[in-house]
Amino acid sequence: SGQPPIGVNNTNGPLDRVRADSSDRELTTNQGVPVADNQNSLKAGLRGPTLMEDFILREKITHFDHERIPERVVHARGSAAHGYFESYQDLSALTRASLFSAPGKKTPVFVRFSTVAGERGSTDTARDVRGFAVKFYTDEGNWDLVGNNIPVFFIQDAMKFPDLIHAVKPEPHNGIPQAASAHDTFWDFASLMPESMHMLMWAMSDRAIPRSYRTMQGFGVHTFRLVNAAGDSVFVKFHWTPLQGTHSLVWDEAVKISGADPDFHRRDLWEAIEAGEFPEYELAIQVFTEQQAESFPFDVLDATKIVPEELVPLQPIGKMVLNRNPDNFFAETEQVAFCTAHIVPGIDFTNDPLLQGRIHSYLDTQISRLGGPNFHEIPINAPVAQVHNNQRDGMHRQTINRGRVAYEPNSLGGGCPFQAGRMKGFTSFPQPITEDKVRGKPELFADHYSQARLFWQSQTPVEKTHIIGGFRFELTRVQVPAIRERMLSMLVNVDETLAAAVAEGLGMD
Ligand code: HEM
Repeated sequence: SGQPPIGVNNTNGPLDRVRADSSDRELTTNQGVPVADNQNSLKAGLRGPTLMEDFILREKITHFDHERIPERVVHARGSAAHGYFESYQDLSALTRASLFSAPGKKTPVFVRFSTVAGERGSTDTARDVRGFAVKFYTDEGNWDLVGNNIPVFFIQDAMKFPDLIHAVKPEPHNGIPQAASAHDTFWDFASLMPESMHMLMWAMSDRAIPRSYRTMQGFGVHTFRLVNAAGDSVFVKFHWTPLQGTHSLVWDEAVKISGADPDFHRRDLWEAIEAGEFPEYELAIQVFTEQQAESFPFDVLDATKIVPEELVPLQPIGKMVLNRNPDNFFAETEQVAFCTAHIVPGIDFTNDPLLQGRIHSYLDTQISRLGGPNFHEIPINAPVAQVHNNQRDGMHRQTINRGRVAYEPNSLGGGCPFQAGRMKGFTSFPQPITEDKVRGKPELFADHYSQARLFWQSQTPVEKTHIIGGFRFELTRVQVPAIRERMLSMLVNVDETLAAAVAEGLGMD
């Protein structure tokens, strides 16, 4: 007929092949058969029973019955946007990552912001950590920087993550509370886990009630590596800073907004982008050598520690602009799969034991959330770079691989890819390892209070009042006195005036 196969808006690159626009089209079944009547089921007589034969009704209802997929086990509630990252300079002295190879180089991104504890329908302005996950569709494959809006984390080792999340999620017997940390189980765990103290200070501060996703910082949290073409490596921390400034709500506002508009952050992000007020964030790095790291009074592999800017200043390296809302919430925001294992040549992991566990967790959970091993083919997850390998089959396979050879080595050839080699392909940084295989942790991981105190001391008097208010609000909802007492004894180690002010609010001074 001369028409394109599906109604298509030829607007935005590679996703156009899967964009559908049904305006002015005939309604069809999934087999493309035109549907004459979309109002009435097929019956034996106008007042008779519905017929098993009604394949149109059954297809429609069956599809509806399976519309929901499991929500993310954490970070279930989120909002996302498309945009681009623009590199300020040529960073090839530090990294061979192609997205940083030239000033002005642009890389498409998809960014999802989220709360952690709440369910998919929970309120946006709950006191919680926020996820800040960026997928860079680089020309050498996807790089995901799966960060948070707080630069440290509750625990040091992935072994404890299921316990942390079981403690923070609604209590299993009654499903209360749905979207806040104010309950016995969370504070029970926290009060037995002194390594969480630094993160708890941030979580009780204004940082945990951001005003908007547009005014929120982001952090890679872990120490990562940059590796250049010669194979030299430095350590790096990643920081996103919103160019509109970092702003928070106050608790009273957050509570009221939560009732009046549970979509407050989602709506704000959507409407700003629709209005052409594109959110912008600068990416900065802290770069330091392994030798420098050895001189720090903390361990850079410990995710409960920051690297203070007095020790290593921030170096801005690029800017991210979010300029397009998704076309479809489910297809993009819900089905996107971020993963710390998605790194590209020029970026590498460190031995941070929290990061090491995350490398496993994301792919594993997504196999169940997104129905099998082929979710990398879902358009929002597919890289802009081409994919060629010998992986085959599995649930929902889309790619039609051709030829009879799907193994290597082979002598029959015929469409089989070859390995890229060290110069082009991803190569792990060859870090020497000579130690005993043990469970345990380094000595410096045991300092749980110095940086919590540093954070407290960095706050203005008003911010300090808010932190005291946060602890008071949360701990007054804890029923078990021993948990409150344990928390107070942790707070004494941070600052005595802080502990005394919280104790007074609890009637325990
Ligand atoms: C989401 C595991 C620590 C940031 C998730 C998901 C899992 C997970 C299973 C759901 C993924 C999905 O269904 O697509 C873990 C484990 C951790 C850990 C095992 C520790 C061992 C962290 C840390 C950060 C973080 C330290 C921040 C630096 C995020 C973000 C998301 C997420 C931003 C949401 C991604 C999205 O928007 O889809 N995590 N996580 N996680 N995690 Fe973690």
